[in-house]
Amino acid sequence: MVSSWLLSLVLAADLFPRGLAPIDAGAPDKLRAAACTGCHPTVHGEWAQSRHGLAWTNAIFQREYRDRPLEWCVHCHAPLTEQLAEVRRGGGALADEGVNCAACHIRAGRVLSRAKSPASPHDTDVRADFGGTAYCAGCHQFTFPTIEPDPDKKGPGRVTGYTAHPMQDTVAQHARGPHADKECLSCHRGDAPSHRFPGGHDDEMIARAVRMETCRAGTNLVVTLANAGAGHNVPTGDLHRHLVLRAWRAGAPEKLQEITLGRRFAPASDGGKRTVADTTIRAGETRRLELPMGRFAAAPEPISLELRLVYTIDEFPFRGRELTAPTFATMLARELDWKTTPRCARR
Ligand code: HEC
Ligand code: HEC
Ligand code: HEC
Ligand code: HEC
Ligand code: HEC
Repeated sequence: MVSSWLLSLVLAADLFPRGLAPIDAGAPDKLRAAACTGCHPTVHGEWAQSRHGLAWTNAIFQREYRDRPLEWCVHCHAPLTEQLAEVRRGGGALADEGVNCAACHIRAGRVLSRAKSPASPHDTDVRADFGGTAYCAGCHQFTFPTIEPDPDKKGPGRVTGYTAHPMQDTVAQHARGPHADKECLSCHRGDAPSHRFPGGHDDEMIARAVRMETCRAGTNLVVTLANAGAGHNVPTGDLHRHLVLRAWRAGAPEKLQEITLGRRFAPASDGGKRTVADTTIRAGETRRLELPMGRFAAAPEPISLELRLVYTIDEFPFRGRELTAPTFATMLARELDWKTTPRCARR
């Protein structure tokens, strides 16, 4: 599996500089999404609401970028050469388009696509690897970078290359998992193909990802979480993403129990960071978690249970770091009656 994935990476390799340089579309007149809107209004509307369309302007990204404004970030979040030039001048309308039509569809001035419609006016470059898993890997799979500090220590430094340790591992996780034969698009373009590319910010997608079951063992609440719907680990993507499972009773909030699932990192000898713990749930995996409810298990009021997908390192940002966008989404929420919760089967 991994070898065919590596082979397919070579196939789409010419399309993306993988964050190490900006993208040259070779078409000064086709850079703005406005150049496509007139004839593709539906696609434009979907894209404008998508995370691709919001990749530069969204508050979560902007806060992280402010902390460390590396040009490397611009290479994926507003990837065109002309967008980088705008960012260097303090920003502008083209940079604000984030990952736009040209970043995905225009190379050497030509429209790229997997197929060409008979009605198309374009001199389309038809490529079988367009939109495939290796194509998505051009931005969705990368290792920690090596950063050379500025000589005068005034700027954020410069990324010079990549280390061996994954920072976003989505495509490799997918290649190792039970859905390796399904393209990313088969889950991420919706039922009617759309440019919304729903994912971790979409209520339906996150509700579909994990199945939750509960039982009791003594005074412990046992929660099993099955990654039944995602083609990769949950969560995947950005390194700060994590899940928080919480159980509490309204009458005894101080007895709240919680478990965090995510990744932890430590400095690596090659200059980047390496993963030292990874409790994200693999595709197809079922995870059993135990929450001690103690003597509160017997109280009459229901137990509230919630699984959250947290986008940021700080679910509850401190003053001055608040965001205008939500820092988390509720994946699953349930009220449980202890007495009618079944006993766990013997293992
Ligand atoms: C003058 C109208 C017009 C403009 C402007 C236009 N397109 Fe198209 N495009 C079409 C038509 C018509 C088709 C074929 C039917 C369809 O897919 O909607 C098409 C098809 C496509 C396809 C599918 C491949 C193909 O050739 O059939 C892609 C991808 C595409 N356009 C991208 C773009 C992008 C990106 C832009 C902006 C840079 C753009 N188009 C601007 C009219 C236009
Ligand atoms: C993140 C990359 C990405 C961005 C951004 C993007 N597209 Fe696409 N586009 C794709 C992929 C992938 C396909 C589907 C290829 C397939 O199914 O074979 C596609 C398909 C198309 C098609 C063919 C019809 C269809 O919907 O399948 C058109 C037309 C099109 N895109 C136009 C645009 C326009 C216009 C924009 C900007 C408003 C845009 N795209 C932004 C990746 C992108
Ligand atoms: C040019 C770079 C680029 C390409 C190519 C690309 N993406 Fe993305 N994608 C991004 C960036 C950057 C974001 C994050 C935007 C943000 O939220 O800040 C993103 C976000 C997403 C999200 C939303 C994640 C969330 O948490 O909501 C999905 C789903 C996604 N991409 C799927 C795909 C798929 C499938 C492909 C291949 C067909 C693809 N992308 C190709 C750069 C890219
Ligand atoms: C079997 C369906 C399926 C396949 C195949 C799949 N995904 Fe997903 N993906 C999901 C679901 C469901 C979610 C929502 C759960 C979540 O956010 O983790 C998701 C979430 C995401 C996210 C948001 C990150 C996060 O964890 O919040 C990104 C980015 C993403 N997918 C990219 C990809 C890419 C790239 C591929 C191909 C290598 C891919 N997906 C293949 C179902 C799938
Ligand atoms: C090689 C491409 C690449 C580079 C370089 C890159 N990113 Fe991203 N980034 C992505 C992709 C793809 C996603 C989508 C995965 C997801 O949503 O979890 C993403 C998601 C994010 C998110 C999550 C946004 C959300 O919607 O929750 C943040 C924050 C972020 N990136 C910040 C940064 C910062 C800051 C830098 C520079 C230090 C950076 N990125 C560099 C590709 C890149």
